[in-house]
Amino acid sequence: MKRILVIGANGQIGCELVEALSAQYGTDNVLASDIAAHSLYGAVHYQKLDVLDAERMEEIVEEYQITDVYQLAALLSVTGEQAPLRAWELNMDGLLNILELARVRAQAGHPLQVFWPSSIAAFGPNTPPVNTPQMTTMDPTTIYGISKLAGERLCEYYFLKYGVDVRSIRYPGIISYKSPPGGGTTDYAIAIFHAALQSQPYDCFLSADTALPMIYMPDAIRATMELMQAPAEQIRIRSAYNVSGISFTPAQIAAEIQRQRPGFVVTYKPDQRQAIADTWPDSLDDGQATLDWNWHAQTDLPALVTDMLKNIVVA
Ligand code: SER
Repeated sequence: MKRILVIGANGQIGCELVEALSAQYGTDNVLASDIAAHSLYGAVHYQKLDVLDAERMEEIVEEYQITDVYQLAALLSVTGEQAPLRAWELNMDGLLNILELARVRAQAGHPLQVFWPSSIAAFGPNTPPVNTPQMTTMDPTTIYGISKLAGERLCEYYFLKYGVDVRSIRYPGIISYKSPPGGGTTDYAIAIFHAALQSQPYDCFLSADTALPMIYMPDAIRATMELMQAPAEQIRIRSAYNVSGISFTPAQIAAEIQRQRPGFVVTYKPDQRQAIADTWPDSLDDGQATLDWNWHAQTDLPALVTDMLKNIVVA
């Protein structure tokens, strides 16, 4: 039986993953945790946990007899640039704490299966931008991207050297309505809906033609769970898988929103986030994920826009 710990459960992915894992494995088998004292999303089982506190992490894993950990606590690309050393510490030590714990527990006969998110930010300006292959030049230039690439290497290292069953996805920008945007370069594609629903014009911080790989949250959650459920021998990538949803530009998502909400106005005023977006791919080749664990995205742009406009709760 699975006993699951989600670290970073108050974040964008965490809050939705806790819900999906609870539906699949039973609420009593899912423990949410985050640095805040309480769950922000009504998780039934919750423990305060700072991912940098390795001792407390070990206690919780032992106390709840955890078998699977999703380590999602991180600073994203924009907030990372504001505090590079803090981003490095949180993103790297948070991962290392869980990998070390998994190594020690595996040696003691209590293996942990680990999920850790990588990102399209692990790519850089020298990466082929269209249909970016699984294996290619990376050279990330943000501290967030550098931490993701280093993290991918660590995941593979712990698998090869210690047999830790760690799995990862290079998430595209994730579009969701449950949690507010949180410091990412791809967050314009969430903020734009908040403006549309408040009948406000939207001033986009990326240029109209900046294509980026994106994915709708239900697809991102399904990818995560399908990867974790796949038999270990099928997982041939132990760094992180390219996973593609839909690629679009600000102009394309604006046009789809305008089709469904006539009169919505978007203007473009690129800021320092444009320089980050310019180093990331336009689209990803996720053929390896399809081959290894049968990954297929389901949500296209019109469906994403319809669902976001229906479900977003305007602050
Ligand atoms: N969505 C993230 C960001 O924009 C990329 O992983 O920082």
